Amino acid sequence: MSGHLPVMLAEVLETLAPQAGQVIVDGTFGGGGYTRAILAAAPCQVIGLDRDPDAFARGKSLEQEIPGRFTMVQTQFSKLDELQAPIDAIVLDIGVSSFQIDQPERGFSFMQDGPLDMRMGKDGPSAADVVAHLSEAELSTLFHIYGEEREARRIARAIVTDRVATPYLRTSELAGVVSRVIGRKHQDHIHPATRVFQALRIYVNDEMGELERALVAAEAILPPGGRLVVVTFHSLEDRAVKTFLNDRSKEAVGSRHAPAQAGPAASFTLINRKPLNATEAEVASNPRARSAKLRAAIRTSAPARAGRVTGLSGVPTLDQIKRAA
Ligand SMILES: C[S@@+](CC[C@H](N)C(=O)[O-])C[C@H]1O[C@@H](n2cnc3c(N)ncnc32)[C@H](O)[C@@H]1O
Repeated sequence: MSGHLPVMLAEVLETLAPQAGQVIVDGTFGGGGYTRAILAAAPCQVIGLDRDPDAFARGKSLEQEIPGRFTMVQTQFSKLDELQAPIDAIVLDIGVSSFQIDQPERGFSFMQDGPLDMRMGKDGPSAADVVAHLSEAELSTLFHIYGEEREARRIARAIVTDRVATPYLRTSELAGVVSRVIGRKHQDHIHPATRVFQALRIYVNDEMGELERALVAAEAILPPGGRLVVVTFHSLEDRAVKTFLNDRSKEAVGSRHAPAQAGPAASFTLINRKPLNATEAEVASNPRARSAKLRAAIRTSAPARAGRVTGLSGVPTLDQIKRAA
């Protein structure tokens, strides 16, 4: 089994700036690339989180390797505010790891045949369940919104027509129907099934909901001066982080019609106004870094704002997708 090359590691360390004695949460432990580098950069402590039992097992062996400085917890990062520890900084590296993609039996890859699974936590409904049970309209909305797939309707229709005779249980079967509908000439020169697989993965793991809740939890538990660093890999995720951080770093609200009144004080200060991208050299050696975007901010002493950002990222929740369909 291959490993996972940590993406934008130098930029993560620079913006996270781990200091001696701090407690840092690596909310997406994966292969432990960030965790190891953070532990090497400063005599600090790291708490690793991952919802994937395989990543949890890797973290447990790291605990043995460096006793006393690292603790591994199997949980969703949206629950990071339930950790019973004072936290100084949080890093999130959203998405799937190479460990997950490269194992056909996890069902994330359209390049290798495997069960149509895609569950990071190995629990709850699988991608096969979603493809079997959502209506044509729901599938179409899902592919359109989470996959930004232009042929969403045609793909959904083909799936719903064909699944009556043969349920879609394997990744190759789903990749096959998408390729058949779209043909070879997909937009953007990517594999025809890329967007449909992305949409299903986001849905099966409630990735947008997880991200949104994690941002709010980070705001709630970080102390003044605490740092939040988030690396994302597609536009929906980046939009969610951008919308949240822009909202939380804004001070007053006002408009032409309603004169500026003092709004709630900013709870974050942006470290970088624009997202950082991977260097050309990194992209050349690790193509996965091509779409990576890093946003980072420092917690102010202002109180956390109540609740989520309304309409965060403009991406509906699972429930909204169902209602819209
Ligand atoms: C891109 S990998 C992280 C790689 C890691 N930075 C490294 O250097 O090895 C993302 C990891 O986050 C985990 N993950 C994704 N969503 C999660 C969530 N909501 N809660 C906890 N872990 C999650 C995945 O299981 C995966 O192992």
